[in-house]
Amino acid sequence: MTETAQQQIHKGLAGVVVDTTRISKVNPETNSLLYRGYPVQELAAQRSFEEVAYLLWYGELPTPEQLAELTAAERAGRALDPVVRKVVDELPTTAHPMDVCRTAASVVGARDSQTEDSSREANLAKALRLWAAMPAVVAYDQRRRRGQDAVEPREDLDYSANFLWMAFGEEAAADVVEAFKVSMILYAEHSFNASTFTARVITSTLADLHSAVTGAIGALKGPLHGGANEAVMHTFEEILAASGGEDLSVRAKSWLDDALANKRKIMGFGHRVYKHGDSRVPTMKASLDKMIEHYGRQDLAELYASLESAMGEAKNIKPNLDYPAGPTYHLMGFDTPTFTPLFVASRITGWTAHIMEQLEANSLIRPLSAYDGPDERHLS
Ligand code: SDX
Repeated sequence: MTETAQQQIHKGLAGVVVDTTRISKVNPETNSLLYRGYPVQELAAQRSFEEVAYLLWYGELPTPEQLAELTAAERAGRALDPVVRKVVDELPTTAHPMDVCRTAASVVGARDSQTEDSSREANLAKALRLWAAMPAVVAYDQRRRRGQDAVEPREDLDYSANFLWMAFGEEAAADVVEAFKVSMILYAEHSFNASTFTARVITSTLADLHSAVTGAIGALKGPLHGGANEAVMHTFEEILAASGGEDLSVRAKSWLDDALANKRKIMGFGHRVYKHGDSRVPTMKASLDKMIEHYGRQDLAELYASLESAMGEAKNIKPNLDYPAGPTYHLMGFDTPTFTPLFVASRITGWTAHIMEQLEANSLIRPLSAYDGPDERHLS
């Protein structure tokens, strides 16, 4: 924090509490994360992503009847809208998948019959439709880049199994579906992170839900935020491709020394709020370990541990969720640029919960700035 003549400046709003929220509690002291009071680890182990989506939106876990209604609506909304597909097909395959995601969210919004209705009832319905629609967009965008056609959704599969089905055109093994589900729950919500705060700023002007989500997708793309899971995989690929003998730990250490010497941020490490490690990492790492076992990639386990240990020794900075999430998605077969769109598909739940909460007691978000430009001067 720096001081001007009379004002304190909080760069990046670090440490600044701007509002209350009932949706999640990120606690760096206890290194914990609660969704509506429930530890995220318990939810990831015992509940479905559909149940967690309901919890974030409504504040309570669903009854069997409520879950059945949500599930039916989500499954009914999975098909790729032909107009969305047409727009996606107009975008070059050189466009980043996050730009495709952002564009698709905009098109879905422009076509939603309730776009201009920001009542809670309409926003709940829009949130569900957008949440249901995104997997088909992410899956199709990856397939079109591979020269493959879209795969129709299946109503007999749950959210995670269907997402994998649409992405790869085959039924994923149960342990792969479970690992994907865990990642969706862990990525769903994290209080006032940059993309969620972006959504709240946009909502505070009384702009609509899809405008707020489109802005949030833009914010999430950055490598300091959601784009880090993609960047982690680029780091792994750089190290795996580096020469310097077979010992991965030696290669990881020399890669890190060089990166730090060049003042590079090491993607997947550090966090603005957590300072003693990200509470979600152990759960995501356990899923990564299961995928390493499933696909027989012990080399990734060695690389993961070597870089983590070298970063701990060099900077005493611990991994965040993106560090185990990136290689997990890689092992599942997703193209690296698709990793952050997977984060989008999950975080739509958290973003839309915050959009609705912002509207409950709205105040236009408009901070001050301290002017340090030229003194007043005149043309003649
Ligand atoms: C997400 O906010 C959320 O909740 C986000 C998220 C969510 O669920 O929504 O958790 C998801 O975005 C996780 C973060 C993903 N980003 C990355 O992995 C990118 C790499 N991380 C860093 O850029 C950094 O750790 C940030 C941006 C995440 C947080 O940085 P801060 O709190 O602004 O701290 P800082 O950048 O001021 O760093 C403090 C010091 C600096 O050293 P000095 O310049 O003071 O000597 O620590 C260093 C930094 O250089 N540092 C790092 C580092 N992280 C901090 N140095 C190298 N590599 C890093 N990763």
